[in-house]
Amino acid sequence: MSRKRVAILISGRGSNMVALIAAAKAPDYPAEIALVISNRPDAAGLARAQAEKIPTAVVDHTRYGKDRAAFERALEAELEAHRIELVCLAGFMRLLSPWLVERWRGRMLNIHPALLPAFKGLDTHRRALAAGAKTHGATVHLVVPDVDSGTIVLQEAVPIGAGDTEETLAARVLAVEHHLYPQALKLLAQGRVLSES
Ligand code: GAR
Repeated sequence: MSRKRVAILISGRGSNMVALIAAAKAPDYPAEIALVISNRPDAAGLARAQAEKIPTAVVDHTRYGKDRAAFERALEAELEAHRIELVCLAGFMRLLSPWLVERWRGRMLNIHPALLPAFKGLDTHRRALAAGAKTHGATVHLVVPDVDSGTIVLQEAVPIGAGDTEETLAARVLAVEHHLYPQALKLLAQGRVLSES
């Protein structure tokens, strides 16, 4: 079995990255984590990847000022240098331009902490609570130029209880994220995800 070479893009603590690395240790998992890239040099996830002996790279967006194209060319150069076949955004908090997204169309996943299409964007847990939602959840989807859109690969709901706070809800959703993302990457690596044309 040839395992797909995967890069994970992070900006912070990298708990979803850790879940993907753990899943990819199974001998029959169809993907290997070949690279972790952070746009922030201080992302806690970098040390966690290094502890797992995964190659890491930092492409610091602040070094490119407003030149998003140059930042993305640097990202793309890292992906090419490591012969990456699939990309997982995992708490990667930069918007990507259509140029990069189109290059990876059908081959790039994102995890979003809400039941898309509900609560696109940031502060999803606070907004779900404020809206009085009874359910919330997590979604893994293919990345397309429109933010938090694209074919949904997997999603899973969690209940919202009367006593929930942003923190308790975030923790419940995160636990779901950690088993959802490895399943979704497995489907993509097996060629079982149909991209819309
Ligand atoms: C996760 O909850 C992920 O769904 C969310 O950031 C967190 C990253 O945690 N992503 C977004 O909000 C993307 N817009 P992690 O670094 O521990 O995986």
